[in-house]
Amino acid sequence: MTHQYPALTPEQKKELADIAQRIVAPGKGILAADESVGSMGKRLDPIGVENTEENRRRYRQILFSADKRMQQYIGGVIFFHETMYQNSDCGTDFVQIIKRKGIVVGIKVDKGVVPLAGTDGETTTQGLDGLAERCAQYKKDGADFAKWRCVLKISENTPSNVAIIENANVLARYASICQQNGIVPIVEPEILPDGDHDLKRCQYVTEKVLAAVYKALSDHHIYLEGTLLKPNMVTAGHASSAKYSPEEIAMATVTALRRTVPPAVPGVTFLSGGQSEEEASINLNAINKCSLAKPWALTFSFGRALQASVLDTWHGQKENESAATEVFIKRAEINSQAALGQYEHSGLDSGASAQSLFVENHAY
Ligand code: 13P
Repeated sequence: MTHQYPALTPEQKKELADIAQRIVAPGKGILAADESVGSMGKRLDPIGVENTEENRRRYRQILFSADKRMQQYIGGVIFFHETMYQNSDCGTDFVQIIKRKGIVVGIKVDKGVVPLAGTDGETTTQGLDGLAERCAQYKKDGADFAKWRCVLKISENTPSNVAIIENANVLARYASICQQNGIVPIVEPEILPDGDHDLKRCQYVTEKVLAAVYKALSDHHIYLEGTLLKPNMVTAGHASSAKYSPEEIAMATVTALRRTVPPAVPGVTFLSGGQSEEEASINLNAINKCSLAKPWALTFSFGRALQASVLDTWHGQKENESAATEVFIKRAEINSQAALGQYEHSGLDSGASAQSLFVENHAY
């Protein structure tokens, strides 16, 4: 017989649930600005900007210096370690700038993927050693939520059972350590869009992966009301010749979630996963318009799909900074509308926002 020993006090639970609710309040989503140094290099290189600490600071300042409109659309910002301890030009630290807007500060705490030997190129995610101490420090330094990304792949032989179980378990251990330290864990089991699989196969794999994740979270006594889920949308593989409408993607996505994600989870914050900015917004809008009952907030935690046009507008030039900030606000506003199912779009346009942001075997 299983016995229960309380993992959290009522006060701890209330704090976690309140943080999660603030992040996914109606019309709000997350700006994922937690690219590692290496990933930032991949963003800055195409616009001819050198990947230095100072240039990364200048770039993040463009996002964080947005005016009051930002807090209507953004409930949380995910930082990378380096950014937590950087300042704006006027000397105020970025954490304070975000907190003063009433936006919750989050921190990426995983240490990247490592191979699972004996599998077809599958991985698990490392970073549990010392995680409790790091979480305690980040909490003191202003972070109230965290992100940990696990990666699964679809092919004929994957995901394997060991990859599904191992990644579910490491996400549960991470979630447990976060909650013990007053930090809301964003649980991210990303299924990559690489491959030529159809929509049904992605839906099937998403259901199996999410079912294993919620079994592990239950086994580890995770307080679901104080968590958020960050999944992929259910889409066909990037190399699939079949095309699906936003309504079909929405139906497959919401069906997979309804079969696996308990209603106690306050919010589902999708990653954009290499979709173009417009595609990601249009699909999020369709997900929110889907006629099935949806007991969770369904919103965004986009990296590439909130930043591609910003980078393109900036190009490393001082005189483009305020225009780049405006572009960020516009994308955040569109995604806020999509999170409410109220985005009126005129179909996919052909500008920068329609460019595919797919990266093979994407690392973060
Ligand atoms: P994308 O939206 O660029 O997929 O990234 C979000 C993220 O945080 C992945 O971990």
